[in-house]
Amino acid sequence: MSGGAAPLLALRGVHKRYDGADEDVLAGVDLALAPGDRIAVVGPSGSGKSTLLFLLGLLDQPTAGTVEVDGRDVAGLDDAARSALRREHVGLVFQDHHLLPQATALDNVLLPWLADGRPGPAQVERARALLARLGLADRADHRPDELSTGQRQRVAVARALARSPRVVLADEPTGALDRARAHDLVELLLDAPGEAAVVVVTHDLEVARRVGRVLVLRDGRLEPS
Ligand SMILES: Nc1ncnc2c1ncn2[C@@H]1O[C@H](COP(=O)(O)OP(=O)(O)OP(=O)(O)O)[C@@H](O)[C@H]1O
Ligand SMILES: [Mg+2]
Repeated sequence: MSGGAAPLLALRGVHKRYDGADEDVLAGVDLALAPGDRIAVVGPSGSGKSTLLFLLGLLDQPTAGTVEVDGRDVAGLDDAARSALRREHVGLVFQDHHLLPQATALDNVLLPWLADGRPGPAQVERARALLARLGLADRADHRPDELSTGQRQRVAVARALARSPRVVLADEPTGALDRARAHDLVELLLDAPGEAAVVVVTHDLEVARRVGRVLVLRDGRLEPS
């Protein structure tokens, strides 16, 4: 770190062991996200990539070590404060989408605003523009069960980007997409505002290289590839 500015989000000496397990999934992970970072995380199935994103997304807590937002340890925050911080700062694309089944694609993209009240016309316009950018203009009024897997994945990406978060976390966002769609989607993620940090978990080495700096999760540790 230079200039004394705290990273947007950082893991310091993070260990994660799930209840009942006899081994750490993460065994001392350090990662500091700065504005403009574009990072791909690769690693074998079960190596802890989703676990890592959940910690970065403030959805889970480490067994040891700290998660810091703007240099502040979030361990002291209650659930409401942590949720507020997450809504404000983080856009997360889950590996299995987590779209609301009864809501249309458009309403799913508008979800991040709903906690603050009804989205206005500018927000609806942004949501529609993101869907259009992802080739889903004519699917905006369809529910997830009326969409293909790849279309659902794209809706989840639109939702994550909706509020221009400072940290964009995407878990295997191109898994169900053909090469051309995967390429478009990665471009959209990389197009996040320059001051945002983007972390993409992927099995696809071509996607990983396109994203930028590639880190490998192996034996509980995050290393340069
Ligand atoms: N909630 C949980 N409780 C207990 N064990 C868990 C839990 N979530 C994940 N694990 C275990 O932790 C390890 C890492 O899981 P994780 O989902 O982070 O892997 P991953 O790298 O994302 O794998 P994949 O590439 O298949 O998505 C696995 O052994 C998994 O079984
Ligand atoms: Mg995973």
